[in-house]
Amino acid sequence: MDKADEYEKLLRQASTWIAESGHLIVSTGAGVSRESGIPTFRDAGEGLWANYDPQQLASVEGFLQDPKMVWEWYAWRRKKISQVRPNPGHLALAHLEGLVSRMTLITQNVDGLHQRAGSKRLIELHGNITRVRCFGNCHQVYENWSDDDYEGEIPPRCKACGSLLRPDVVWYGEQLPEKALQEAFLLAENCDVMLVVGTSGLVQPAASLPVIAGRAGARFIEVNPQPGMISASADILLKGKSGEILPQLVATVEQMKKNAAG
Ligand code: OAD
Ligand code: ZN
Repeated sequence: MDKADEYEKLLRQASTWIAESGHLIVSTGAGVSRESGIPTFRDAGEGLWANYDPQQLASVEGFLQDPKMVWEWYAWRRKKISQVRPNPGHLALAHLEGLVSRMTLITQNVDGLHQRAGSKRLIELHGNITRVRCFGNCHQVYENWSDDDYEGEIPPRCKACGSLLRPDVVWYGEQLPEKALQEAFLLAENCDVMLVVGTSGLVQPAASLPVIAGRAGARFIEVNPQPGMISASADILLKGKSGEILPQLVATVEQMKKNAAG
């Protein structure tokens, strides 16, 4: 079999599993937003963590040391995100939700592009960069933060208690949002197909979702141009960009559903 035939066969097998699934989980990482123009964290050269220090920019210690710099780095990322659009990969996943019996999207991304693409059942494990919250004890949350509409000291202060505000994202050393995490684990234990897209699988606990699902007997499909940490346990690896593969995968699932309906 040549490479194209082999790929076609894997794509059809993966589509069959998804079309027949009673409970699908899709778990995404930074790679799914790459084709929108958002850099990943660990890809060589362009990855954010190749150019910036996560200890400085993504930890409580870093924020305490230089809150202005940290705030401005997130404001820069917010701006970049507001200037890009969901790509065909995000759109395909939003469409898939309406095709299968039950699907939940679990993302490590904080860019909000899945919502903008129209995904509804969504769990954000690492928070959302467009939300900010009080760094003090009052835990006040501010949705849809607009840097353009704010003038004043940086970082801004909480209206409720006067403490500094911080982005509502998970930093190194911090716990993930408890409800989101519990729900993600429970879903992983109960799904029958897990589709993992665009993550290096190096960050816990998100990386253990396919392991949990696999132990519970679920099929595990991965979409990624580069095999990584978790690829060895994948039943099928569809090697390539999510903006190209996901539309093909979802179109094939849709066709199978139509055929089945007669
Ligand atoms: P990484 O930067 O670690 O991995 C990105 C993955 O995307 C790699 O496996 C790439 O091969 C893959 N990739 C690149 N281009 C792609 C494309 N066009 N289509 C599909 N895949 C592509 O990003 P994450 O695994 O998401 O955490 O990183 C996990 C967490 O580490 C992030 O949520 C962030 C970071 O520190 C926090 O900020 C808490
Ligand atoms: Zn406060």
